[in-house]
Amino acid sequence: MPAPNPAALDFLLTRRSRPAKTLVAPAPTREELAPLLQAAARSPDHGKLEPWRFIVIQKAAMARLADLTEARGEALGKSPEDIAKGRSQFDQGHLAVAVIEVQKQSDKIPAIEQTYAAGGVCLALLNAALAAGWGANWLSGWISHDREFCEQALGLSAEERIVGFVHIATEGAKPPERPRPDLSQITEWVDQ
Ligand SMILES: Cc1cc2nc3c(=O)[nH]c(=O)nc-3n(C[C@H](O)[C@H](O)[C@H](O)COP(=O)(O)O)c2cc1C
Repeated sequence: MPAPNPAALDFLLTRRSRPAKTLVAPAPTREELAPLLQAAARSPDHGKLEPWRFIVIQKAAMARLADLTEARGEALGKSPEDIAKGRSQFDQGHLAVAVIEVQKQSDKIPAIEQTYAAGGVCLALLNAALAAGWGANWLSGWISHDREFCEQALGLSAEERIVGFVHIATEGAKPPERPRPDLSQITEWVDQ
């Protein structure tokens, strides 16, 4: 039996995102963020394709992304509410890591498995940030699925897409626990 790690297990059993809008300055420095990215990159990866990369969005870049979100919302005919919500994550953001899925050519590894792996990286980054004591939140929003935004804002190429924006900064308020899945409803035990 491997040695148990009760602290790690306790963290996983109690972990909870901190809503992005409740995060306050300071955000992690480059040095503080590095081990979190390292932990996230240390994720299961079928075929060692590394179908992901990171774009660290610093405070100074947030206004540009907020304005582009508004322009794209208007071009797409979004409601004022959707536009305001879409740009709010950048208006209020201190630092966000855009986790980018990078689809790699492979005869062996299906595209969907690369997508699963990139999603795992997002959760790993979120958990690493929370474990390090930061407040963190995984957001997407309609803007993350807009090709024009992906290309103009972040320079993504055709085989890339945004898995999520993981906002990381200082916790401003601890949210109450939220309802969690009923294990008996989602778990099936098979013995034959
Ligand atoms: C792929 C993905 C995208 C999400 N996008 C948003 C979003 O755009 N806005 C939002 O309010 N919550 C979004 N969420 C949910 C938040 O991350 C929410 O804080 C999270 O479900 C809380 O989970 P936890 O309490 O287990 O940490 C998203 C979650 C996932 C997995």
